[in-house]
Amino acid sequence: MELKIDPWGAVHVDDYSKLFDEFGISDFVKEILPQIDNPHRYMKRKIIFGHRNYDSVLKAMKEEKSFAVMSGFMPSGRAHFGHLMVMNEIIWHQQQGGDAFMAIADMEAHAVRGISWARCRDLGIREYITSIIALGFKPNGHIYFQSDNFDMRNLSFELAAEARFSEVSAIYGFSGETNIAHMECTTIQSADILQPQLKKYGGPKPVVIPVGSDQDAHIRLTRDLAYRMRKFLVEQRDNYVSIRGKAAEPALISSVVEALKGAGYDKVRQYEEHIDIPGTTDVSSIDDLVSGIEVSHGELGFMPPASIYHRFMTGLTGGKMSSSKPESHIALTEDPKEAAKKLMRAITGGRQSLAEQKRLGGEPEKCSIYEFLLFHLSEEDKEMQELFEECKSGEMLCGACKKAAAERIEIFLKDFQKEKAAAVEKLPDFGIKV
Ligand code: TRP
Ligand code: SF4
Repeated sequence: MELKIDPWGAVHVDDYSKLFDEFGISDFVKEILPQIDNPHRYMKRKIIFGHRNYDSVLKAMKEEKSFAVMSGFMPSGRAHFGHLMVMNEIIWHQQQGGDAFMAIADMEAHAVRGISWARCRDLGIREYITSIIALGFKPNGHIYFQSDNFDMRNLSFELAAEARFSEVSAIYGFSGETNIAHMECTTIQSADILQPQLKKYGGPKPVVIPVGSDQDAHIRLTRDLAYRMRKFLVEQRDNYVSIRGKAAEPALISSVVEALKGAGYDKVRQYEEHIDIPGTTDVSSIDDLVSGIEVSHGELGFMPPASIYHRFMTGLTGGKMSSSKPESHIALTEDPKEAAKKLMRAITGGRQSLAEQKRLGGEPEKCSIYEFLLFHLSEEDKEMQELFEECKSGEMLCGACKKAAAERIEIFLKDFQKEKAAAVEKLPDFGIKV
């Protein structure tokens, strides 16, 4: 059913439809949202619009099975509200019972942006780590610098043995001039994403990666690499499940056949490396079982990672938010008064004149103030609904509206920055040495 007034779908809805059609990202709002009992504000408000394979995570969440959430941040500058969204998404999944991982991508910042190790360390702690702690990340999660994490780095090497030069160059547009450490960062990022499935963390499990849609290429590559690391490809065919071995040892193949029989699949048929189970559609349980056998034989048994994608905020000055244009965005370390001033100067969906606005109403769908409130400054759905209606009808005028938003950002940043200062004391609880 379509609501007549949809205060959530208002902002730039159509920009993303091509991601569905061209890249195969699935519709989060239609497919997943109705199944979540206590959705995050970003979900309810359709800010999280797309996903890959989130069904796997949802299922684990509902059945109280283990799952994980992970994302990474490149320490190349100030953290802003876009980063805050990813952090909140990590924390929400941690609160739902997920094992939570945050990578500080210092190897990437060093190799790709030429940032010194000392500066990576400093920015990583000052901008990102203290921020996520201030927002409520709990110490049972894992925060790490890529350069410190040798489990991940070893995994990256393993993945690199499956990644081809031509495909990686094609995906990221590498040329002969690209330095090799930069290329390595592709499998480093894949290793970040797959690390939560290592034995050390309890083995294969659904993992969700909250990211901006610009990171989708990494997700696709990592999903491919995860498949390639498997010893068996488990697929649903018309009326049977096909299990195809890839240079799997005979002992491993017989273990799989035995396990399947033990689990009650008595129609198992084996043809050398290939196993069929006729008359079943239970591909996901069978895949879990096969992956478990792989792990017991010392393999990795990875599941392809899931992802969720959120909309980007537009810049306060119109157009894109850009870290090189200070007026276009607000940093999390911004002076609260300065941030309030930026909102007062932001582009709104107001009309040329007061008279015109009263007559025609404002355009919240084009308004960066409305967007800021929707994304960050209002928890109350009812309040947003009312603002949407009052703006549209011309009752609410931009001056008062901006002032209210400016007051809120000032309070928000003051509180947040106080928590952030307190987070410095808590760093040892997260294994971070200062
Ligand atoms: N490449 C990401 C960026 O440019 C950072 C990153 C590193 C990352 N490892 C990751 C993101 C793992 C998601 C998952 O910001
Ligand atoms: Fe934006 Fe508020 Fe003006 Fe409407 S009244 S256009 S929401 S600033």
